[in-house]
Amino acid sequence: MFFPFLLFFFSLIALIIFIWISTHRKYNTSQSVSASYDSWTNNRLLEELWGEHIHLGYYNNNQKKQDFRKAKIDFVHKLVFWSGLHKLPKGSSIIDIGCGIGGSSRILANAYGFNVLGITISKEQVKRAIQLTPEDCTCKFVEMDALKLSFPDGSFDGVWSVEAGAHILEKQLFADEMLRVLRPGGVLAVADWNKGKSNHKSLNLIDRLVMKQLLDQWSHPEFSSIEDFQINLLNSRFSVGKVDIDDWTKYTLPSWNESIIEGVRRPKIWLKLGPLSFLQGVREIPTILLMRWSFAKGLMRFGVFRSRG
Ligand SMILES: C[S@@+](CC[C@H](N)C(=O)[O-])C[C@H]1O[C@@H](n2cnc3c(N)ncnc32)[C@H](O)[C@@H]1O
Repeated sequence: MFFPFLLFFFSLIALIIFIWISTHRKYNTSQSVSASYDSWTNNRLLEELWGEHIHLGYYNNNQKKQDFRKAKIDFVHKLVFWSGLHKLPKGSSIIDIGCGIGGSSRILANAYGFNVLGITISKEQVKRAIQLTPEDCTCKFVEMDALKLSFPDGSFDGVWSVEAGAHILEKQLFADEMLRVLRPGGVLAVADWNKGKSNHKSLNLIDRLVMKQLLDQWSHPEFSSIEDFQINLLNSRFSVGKVDIDDWTKYTLPSWNESIIEGVRRPKIWLKLGPLSFLQGVREIPTILLMRWSFAKGLMRFGVFRSRG
């Protein structure tokens, strides 16, 4: 009698916690995104597990042996070369839109000699990015909304944004703002999580439920398809009329499993962060596996975009 009651009681608590966390992180406004990243930054879970880059890694020929953190650094260099950012001279000004805790910004400054301004909607990320950045690094960080960039037109030689657009509902405005602050002749380099098809209605019930989870769990209002976001960039009144796209799903796919395995490779993290963080980490596993499944199946795609202003 006692055991079934206990089982029922704990299942009910687990269900309440699950629903609370799910709704807690669901996108309502950009405030939900900043609240999610403030909390992910303060609990240090992402940083301890995956390092200073909050994006997927790049694996050549689907090579899985690559160290996860090294693959993330490789990703930054691959995007720099694919987009043509490396052709800009040292001292060029780059804005990193949705900069996280500054992983990419520091590489752009240290390896390519750029002056980088990282902006993020999370004030806690700004604080942490500043803490992690040595004084001699040519990077600055400020809290700002990607949709309300407080800079005149053509302010930057390069615009860089990695995995931020999925958190933004107004995709056209996002495209407009990035292109507006890019100077004529400057370089745009964007990478993002995209949905495979433009139209949700063509998805079957399971796929729709999965997509809903991918949106709600990590504060995403909507994913764009690669082609739709290319159209946003082309249709922008600041567009230069040519935007190249590519699909890097196969190069980034191993990252999903790796992001779980990192938790096993680094058991000391759990001693340092404590049991609550362990539970928070375990709680992300279903979403990570759903992400992997969706990218492998074509429900999601990893898009890259480049344009020369
Ligand atoms: C997945 S993280 C990527 C972070 C960083 N680009 C990296 O690769 O490490 C998404 C980032 O986008 C930022 N972001 C989301 N919506 C934003 C908005 N409306 N304005 C500015 N930043 C935003 C988040 O605060 C977070 O820093």
